[in-house]
Amino acid sequence: MRFASIIALAAPVFVAAAPWRRNAATNLLVLKFADVLEQLEATFYSQALVKFKESDFTAAGFPSAQLAIEQFLSIRDDEVIHATVLEETIKALGGTPVDNCSFDFSTVLTDVTTMANVARVVENVGVTAYLGAANLLSDPVLLTAAGSILTVEARHQTILNVLTSGTAIPQAFDLAFTPSEVLAIAGSFISGCDLGVKANQPLALTNNGTVTTGTLLTFNSPALNGSTDGLFCQMMVGGLAFSISLPVSQCVVPNGVNGPVALWITSDSQPLINNPIDRAVDKQVAGPMIAFIDTVPQLLGQMAHTPASAPPPTPTTITLEQATSLINNASPVPSPTGY
Ligand SMILES: *[C@@H]1O[C@H](CO)[C@@H](O)[C@H](O)[C@H]1NC(C)=O
Ligand SMILES: *[C@@H]1O[C@H](CO)[C@@H](O)[C@H](O)[C@H]1NC(C)=O
Ligand SMILES: *[C@@H]1O[C@H](CO)[C@@H](O)[C@H](O)[C@H]1NC(C)=O
Repeated sequence: MRFASIIALAAPVFVAAAPWRRNAATNLLVLKFADVLEQLEATFYSQALVKFKESDFTAAGFPSAQLAIEQFLSIRDDEVIHATVLEETIKALGGTPVDNCSFDFSTVLTDVTTMANVARVVENVGVTAYLGAANLLSDPVLLTAAGSILTVEARHQTILNVLTSGTAIPQAFDLAFTPSEVLAIAGSFISGCDLGVKANQPLALTNNGTVTTGTLLTFNSPALNGSTDGLFCQMMVGGLAFSISLPVSQCVVPNGVNGPVALWITSDSQPLINNPIDRAVDKQVAGPMIAFIDTVPQLLGQMAHTPASAPPPTPTTITLEQATSLINNASPVPSPTGY
């Protein structure tokens, strides 16, 4: 089941005062923020591609190392261009790009599987960041330009979903995060610079095994002081009007979830509104974080990458005669238009 029927356009019930004014200064702040995220992505892929060899990709379950490396290179090149163009735009508008951030990926560039899973999160954060910042831009030209980057980040997201054996396009709607929410995830990799945005507290899952339908989620965050008593977990899925709110002690993944799930810890049980413009900020204790919960495996992802838990595919070889016979006996291909 998809949550597609409940679109996030429902009338907001709890409206938080929007702290952002739409003006030229905010346009610049948003562009600088986007540029730092692009720098982060470009650095991440550049370091990953230096560090890992073909044999590392093969050991991580890619039947072809080149199949994966080709995509990582292509994505890296896009992020480098995005950063360059954003920096030129910031300068053209009279601003100064933030150029003194340090990015530390040492905790996640440990092996190709971890790197690919983090890349999947990073691309999803890219999508949520551009979507969540769209409403802050007052200039329709900048909005269109940002949109043209967002669509490409979404394609990266799909490729990463496939390369990590997930569902290529798991939901009919994407999520949007405020800049503070984006920094709950991206902020752990960034230091030394001032983005002019307060970061939400980071949140992590402590579950050891596979997280799937029925799994009780367990959390860790510097904001939790070791206890989750009286706190609530909020699970947001694309297309839902509100998050699913549960006491942390009962935070079980419900039926029907597939793909990215944004998770928050809040201090009350009130569900969070999907749209970031009206979402309450004052009860957010930690998060969001993004968990990919893959409950609907697809052939495409299984062909591109063998998950660690599954046995490797049995190699099959067929003779030329068998192949010719298969082709000759194949059903006629329906016309693409269906007419
Ligand atoms: C980075 O640049 C900003 C703005 O110029 C400055 O305020 C900050 O101190 C710099 N940070 C470091 C670590 O040099
Ligand atoms: C995960 O494993 C660690 C180390 O074995 C253990 O301390 C922790 O309690 C486990 N977490 C869960 C949620 O079972
Ligand atoms: C954790 O402790 C800090 C500092 O005492 C406090 O501000 C914060 O509200 C606490 N968090 C929770 C979830 O109780």
